[in-house]
Amino acid sequence: MEVVIRTDAAEAGQTVAGIVHRALLNGAKTLGLATGLSPLSAYRDLGRRHREEGLTLADVDVFLLDEYVGLPPEHPQSYVHVIRRELADRTDLNPDRVHAPSGTTADPLAEARRYEAALAAGGPVDVQLLGIGVNGHIGFNEPGSSLASRTRLKTLTDATRRANALFFENPEDVPRHVITQGLATIGEARHLILIATGPHKAQAVAAAVEGPVSAHCPASILQLHPHVTVVLDELAASQLRDQPYYRYVARHKPAGQGY
Ligand code: F6R
Repeated sequence: MEVVIRTDAAEAGQTVAGIVHRALLNGAKTLGLATGLSPLSAYRDLGRRHREEGLTLADVDVFLLDEYVGLPPEHPQSYVHVIRRELADRTDLNPDRVHAPSGTTADPLAEARRYEAALAAGGPVDVQLLGIGVNGHIGFNEPGSSLASRTRLKTLTDATRRANALFFENPEDVPRHVITQGLATIGEARHLILIATGPHKAQAVAAAVEGPVSAHCPASILQLHPHVTVVLDELAASQLRDQPYYRYVARHKPAGQGY
């Protein structure tokens, strides 16, 4: 696991976009994407790279981490809609190649199995972007989620619903249920990139990166993956004990090592 500390959210996003750009130039064809606030700076910079540097996503398939149960794809807060707005509208990503669980299926259990199978057929994901919840969730694998979990129906914690209320007019409108990739499903991606910014993420980041591997901090499972890059701003990094080492590694990064 490599921990990269940047000054602010914009710089963190630029770093993540740079890693994605490099991966695409090296032949990556499948991206796994998160929604929420954390990856937005990266999506903006991918848009800039498309306009100014010839980055193309035309041949890329995108698999989303999760979707709210109950929201149709045309709802502005459905995750498939968010990715179309934040990334497809800024690049040449084909909206028809954005894959997500259906939020309006009559049978969410069967839909979760279908999406897991779609990932198995279309994957493995080359580069997976992740955010982290203040409670340590990735995807919507809330604390207590099995470290071996697969795509399934999950109930959001009150804390997650409160955090996500900022996207909705009325806090009561935040759906209670989601279909989310499981922790083992996420772990099948070749390269995981976690982006976290802001002081409210510092505790969860420290638990995920330096704490014990535990279902109580689902993101701690990243410690078991062979290729993880954690991109933070100063505030999200502020509770990491080994900050001096992470900064030392950055200062002495061998030329050509990449991320
Ligand atoms: C969203 C997702 C979640 C978010 C997390 C952080 O697709 O899977 O794990 O990444 O809740 O959300 P923000 O970035 O809004 O703080």
